[in-house]
Amino acid sequence: MSNELVLYCRGGFESDCAAEIQHRAAELEIFGFAKAKADSGYVVFQCYQEGEAHKLYQLLDLRELVFTRHWFVALAELQLDADDRIKDIIASGSELPRCGSLRLEYPDTNDGKALSSFCKKFQRPLAKALQKQGWLTEKERPNLPILQLFFTDGTHGWIGVAEPANASPWHNGILRLRFPSQAPSRSTLKLDEAFLVLLNEQEQQDYIENGQHAVDLGACPGGWTYQLVRRNMFVASVDNGPMAESLMETGQVRHYREDGFKFRPERNNISWLVCDMVEKPARVTELMLRWLTEGWCKYAMFNLKLPMKKRFAEVEQDLQRLKEGLSELGDDFEVRAKQLYHDREEITVFARLGRHQRH
Ligand SMILES: C[S@@+](CC[C@H](N)C(=O)[O-])C[C@H]1O[C@@H](n2cnc3c(N)ncnc32)[C@H](O)[C@@H]1O
Repeated sequence: MSNELVLYCRGGFESDCAAEIQHRAAELEIFGFAKAKADSGYVVFQCYQEGEAHKLYQLLDLRELVFTRHWFVALAELQLDADDRIKDIIASGSELPRCGSLRLEYPDTNDGKALSSFCKKFQRPLAKALQKQGWLTEKERPNLPILQLFFTDGTHGWIGVAEPANASPWHNGILRLRFPSQAPSRSTLKLDEAFLVLLNEQEQQDYIENGQHAVDLGACPGGWTYQLVRRNMFVASVDNGPMAESLMETGQVRHYREDGFKFRPERNNISWLVCDMVEKPARVTELMLRWLTEGWCKYAMFNLKLPMKKRFAEVEQDLQRLKEGLSELGDDFEVRAKQLYHDREEITVFARLGRHQRH
């Protein structure tokens, strides 16, 4: 049995994904090494001690990993005969638990995308063969483990198992969203995705309400403001640049041509602070911390831009600083971060401080 985890990430961020899993595993006293090929879109983490890949998957939540989109425990590396793939897959799957669904996936790279139609075609015949073995239920059972295949080409990859509670619900770990034609910039998808990925359904209902007030720092041309307006909020949009006329016409937006680092709210009922300013991540972190601890907003959603080489180290430092700063006011706070599909050289962070704990 293999003792590996397969982790999906954005192409070009393999070393960050690898550094992060190594670090988180070591914190749990699980040791191993990451195999990461540049621009491959995935990382394989091999544990030294027998059974520890499975243990790590049980102990660590996918939501704690910033640079990993989806992951599973590998049972075997595949090397398939192109003329009879199913035979080889069956031969490697004897240790599979009974699974309730089957996912055939591939890296988010150009080479990976070329496997999309192969995976679609292969899904049905493979499912039938696995059902015959009794390894896959006839009807999809979302509470049972997910039987996972990850192809790096038509004959190579990994077979393994993911747990529904510790897996991305989306194919390839990617939430695809349609670009709204009236939005003034493509960045709009980042905030849309952030609300859907970083908040669960209950939190979306509880934290996002009609008529809330929001502040958008670094707002122009208005892609993020558009998402707030769409959710029926009133927005103070702060930026020296021009805001899209269509947003100003809604009557829900006030444009402040000011420095986002100096801007202070005029009202004391701001629910959301969002920030997409291109600035040093440590500086943005301090600003977000100030807004939350001063009680100027309830929730913050912001991007940290990562043009540097050691991106995981920077993120770790910034998130630690944020958690330390928030914890000074008690332990009712939340910090979550993810490199979203629509994020490029950046990650998105959600932070919240319990109401009674703000100054
Ligand atoms: C990536 S763009 C924001 C795009 C926006 N989120 C959207 O969806 O359309 C970054 C913006 O931050 C603004 N910016 C950078 N530094 C700023 C500062 N100190 N104060 C206010 N705006 C700033 C820039 O003018 C720029 O418009």
